[in-house]
Amino acid sequence: MSRSPMIVRTVPALRRALDRLKAKKATTALVPTMGALHDGHVSLVRLAKRRATRVIVSIFVNPTQFAPSEDFSSYPRTWKADVAKLAAEEVDLIWNPDVKTMYPDGFATRILTEGPATAGLEDRFRPHFFGGVTTVVGKLFTQVRPDFAVFGEKDFQQLRVVTRMARDLDLGVRVIGSRTVRERDGLAMSSRNVNLSPEERRTAPVLYRAMKEAARRLRAGDDLEAARAGGAELAAGAGFALDYFEVRHAGTLAPIASAKDGPMRILTAARIGTTRLIDNVAV
Ligand code: PAF
Repeated sequence: MSRSPMIVRTVPALRRALDRLKAKKATTALVPTMGALHDGHVSLVRLAKRRATRVIVSIFVNPTQFAPSEDFSSYPRTWKADVAKLAAEEVDLIWNPDVKTMYPDGFATRILTEGPATAGLEDRFRPHFFGGVTTVVGKLFTQVRPDFAVFGEKDFQQLRVVTRMARDLDLGVRVIGSRTVRERDGLAMSSRNVNLSPEERRTAPVLYRAMKEAARRLRAGDDLEAARAGGAELAAGAGFALDYFEVRHAGTLAPIASAKDGPMRILTAARIGTTRLIDNVAV
């Protein structure tokens, strides 16, 4: 059974649709996406459905979070399949603005975040990224005004950044993190996995295995730097070019010197061929 979601592309139409959806004391959850939906996104939608009576999914490939050298133009776009998946999940509304609607001529505002956004992880390699993400997510939150918003833990630093932003700016949205969904061999689901060649796809799960091995050593009481370096070597040995492979404080993402310094999270970003994968695990 599937039910076609309402598809809305302008801000006035969104306001009207939300007025109808929010009648009768409905609660709303927003799942922000850039489309190319996979089972990971479906799990976000399912969590949203458990939290709220109405679910809105935004599909917008946000140009401001891509550097000119990055894959904005080749980012996978699978509109028809996306709508079919969201219909099967009985999503209420798809918010699908175009670039002009989100960034009209003369657009000159940016949300600048610090704290987890300057932890020296993604921000070190993609300095433009969080300015683009927070600006678009800030806009999505003010356009949709949801009670909840669901983000995947796979983009762990992004989750921390938008959680902080929603609190700092009193946006009235409760941000919820959702567990990473993995393929059977451990590779985290990502829209960019389609870019992997068959050989790269076979190697890709080593990144998760390397983090799990480092987490195992940390739990066993190994020295933090030795466990970290061992994991990084495993991934590099399989052919990954690492941007980072780090053990950080799970809450603040600040560097830590030993396991005594707090709950730990291992976070990595690495390239295999031309594809950049990011992932993380709890310790
Ligand atoms: O995680 C993503 O897909 C994007 O960064 C987001 C949150 C939809 C903002 O464009």
